[in-house]
Amino acid sequence: MKALVLSGGKGTRLRPITHTMAKQLVPVANEPILGYVFQHLMEAGIKEVGVVVAPETQEDVKRFLKNGGRWGLKIQYILQDKPLGLAHAVKTAQPFLGSSPFVMYLGDNLLAEGIKGYRERFLEEKLDAFLFLKEVENPKAFGVAVLNKKGHITRLIEKPEKPPSNLALVGVYFFSPKIHQAIARIKPSARGELEITDAIQELMNMKGLVKGHILEGWWLDTGKKDDFLAANTTVLDDYIKRDICGQCDSQSQIIGRVRLAKKTKVIGSIIRGPVVIGEGSQIIHSFIGPYTTIGPYSRVIHSVIEHSVLMSHCLVENIARLEDSLIGREAQVIQGENHSKALRLMIGDNAVVEV
Ligand code: G1P
Repeated sequence: MKALVLSGGKGTRLRPITHTMAKQLVPVANEPILGYVFQHLMEAGIKEVGVVVAPETQEDVKRFLKNGGRWGLKIQYILQDKPLGLAHAVKTAQPFLGSSPFVMYLGDNLLAEGIKGYRERFLEEKLDAFLFLKEVENPKAFGVAVLNKKGHITRLIEKPEKPPSNLALVGVYFFSPKIHQAIARIKPSARGELEITDAIQELMNMKGLVKGHILEGWWLDTGKKDDFLAANTTVLDDYIKRDICGQCDSQSQIIGRVRLAKKTKVIGSIIRGPVVIGEGSQIIHSFIGPYTTIGPYSRVIHSVIEHSVLMSHCLVENIARLEDSLIGREAQVIQGENHSKALRLMIGDNAVVEV
């Protein structure tokens, strides 16, 4: 079985961060989301992956994944010139996929359990599509499935105005090659895209065998700032173990599950986990509170930070309290005069904010 990872798209909902960064490379607990995706594919025993990339971000994606050696996966890159939909991406990837069954994994989706075990079920039951579903509070933002009393899918609708259920389609799908015939039969949606949801509905119209599985573990679509911070919180909660590699002076306290990468320096500070601090960062006379990720080579000086993500090479100085914030690469948050109000920010790469 092959895998198709979608790593194109514009990431409009996470702007300004995604003006300068592919949405799939935004780090959660200091690991790009794509890293988790590849980890899951490796665990599921996949060997060959097609990665669909966009012209704007392909170089960055390739720089991170390289030839897939880190995960023992063989990669072929497939260029999708325009973001014309998920089904269009599959169409573009047809020469790579050939007549192989495949798992399609959207590169900005994160799943707690990964996909291990489900591949076997899909193949044993000879399904044409095997979908993951999850109850959500805002089904309007997703593809939505309607189930009958037996739990079988009867209908699928992309981003319905009036959602008939709260079961969203997760961005991981197993397909037999029959999906290509279904894609050939659909037309672009109102947003001008070839929707994979419409293709699966067409597959059902063609009497293809489609089943869904309601996920028990968490599923995170990292689309917007608050979803992204929620993803950071969940991943820190689930994956982070205490691991102190950096230097910490006798005036500092490191409490709970904190991962301090090598070449980090903590001076006169308190760090209360779960927290991840990337390589080469310095925390000086500061408090880093729970659910915070500090990217590599960042500096936090005389500040308090909680429930936030700083990407790489950031500077936060003299800030009384920074919370619920997402700070892009090389951004600086510096206080000019004395203030003590909490700040809530979303700041893109290279920004400088003086408050
Ligand atoms: C896409 C799919 C949608 C699915 C979602 C999962 O939406 O079209 O059906 O629920 O991914 O992340 P998009 O991210 O393109 O808005």
